[in-house]
Order: sequence, then structure tokens, then C-alpha cells
Amino acid sequence: MYHLLGKESSSILEVCGGDGELAGGILNEMGDKVKEYVLLDNNKVSIEKAQNTLQPFIKSKKVELILCDVTEGNLTTRVNRTFKIVLGIGALTQAVLEKKSALKVFDELVDMIESDGYLVLTGITEQWVDSETMIQKGLSIKNRSLPNDQLQFYVAQKKK
Ligand SMILES: C[S@@+](CC[C@H](N)C(=O)[O-])C[C@H]1O[C@@H](n2cnc3c(N)ncnc32)[C@H](O)[C@@H]1O
Repeated sequence: MYHLLGKESSSILEVCGGDGELAGGILNEMGDKVKEYVLLDNNKVSIEKAQNTLQPFIKSKKVELILCDVTEGNLTTRVNRTFKIVLGIGALTQAVLEKKSALKVFDELVDMIESDGYLVLTGITEQWVDSETMIQKGLSIKNRSLPNDQLQFYVAQKKK
């Protein structure tokens, strides 16, 4: 993560970010490298928890929490900016979304990655988005788990 953030301070979008545990970890460990962190989740209780965990960062306007269903469409319009890093941690997986919805969300996420920026997807259940789908969408795979590993992850970069 530290490597992906680079030298300049970067913006991060996290979809299905839950109660902000990862966001808190990233911001506490390397907050000086993050200029903006936007977290989306459709669970009100999780967003409320994230509000508590991330309170200092919300106050300083570094973090924005958005209660929304990412499958509803128009994500690009609703968020309306691009990010250096887009994270989907246990997000576009079989346990969380229907395949059709996950692929629709993936398309929108790619549009929200800055040129040269990164998409990081992980899951302990299988991802709906595979490397072929990413390559077709103009991403190059920088790192990934082995096909049979229990924890699945992809780090992909958007080409210029
Ligand atoms: C497996 S959890 C992962 C949470 C977090 N990323 C983590 O790693 O701890 C899936 C998350 O996706 C959220 N979620 C499920 N469906 C969603 C949807 N349609 N729109 C937005 N968030 C959704 C859930 O509320 C939950 O927080």
C-alpha cells in the first residue's frame, strides 16, 4: 500500500469499506501520504461505526463517508472525481454482490481511477472480476494471488 501511494499525497476510494477499519489503519500508518479518503458502504451501522473510528480525519476533511448502494448505478456522477487508488476489499466477491452488479460496479470503478492509478481487489471468497476482464478494460495486472490461494487479490494499474 505504501508503495502504491507514491511520493505525492494521493486520493483513495474504498467501496464496501464497512466500518472503516482498513481506512483507519491506512490513515494512522501513512496519513501524511493521503490527501483524501472516500469510503462507500450501504450499511448504516457500519457507516456510524466508521464515523466514530475516523472522527479526527472527518474533522480535518480528509475523510468522506457515503452511505450508498454501489449497485444503484451513476457512481461516477455521485462521487464525481477520480482517485489514485481504488480499493475493494471483500467487495466484488461472490459473498457480497451478484455477478452482474459486481461487473457493473467494476466498470464504474475503472472510470474513477486516475490515469496510472491502481485498483486493488481482495476477497476470501472468489472475485467476480478476473484478470481477463481487467485487461479487457485497459488495466495491467501488477500483482495477484495464485489461482487456488484462499485469499484472492489483484493489484492492477490503469494505463495512460
Ligand atoms: C465482506 S464485507 C467487507 C468490509 C470491509 N471492506 C472489510 O474488509 O472489512 C462487505 C461490505 O460490503 C458492504 N456492502 C454489501 N453490499 C453493498 C452494496 N450494494 N453497496 C455498498 N456496500 C455494500 C457491506 O455492508 C459490508 O460492509
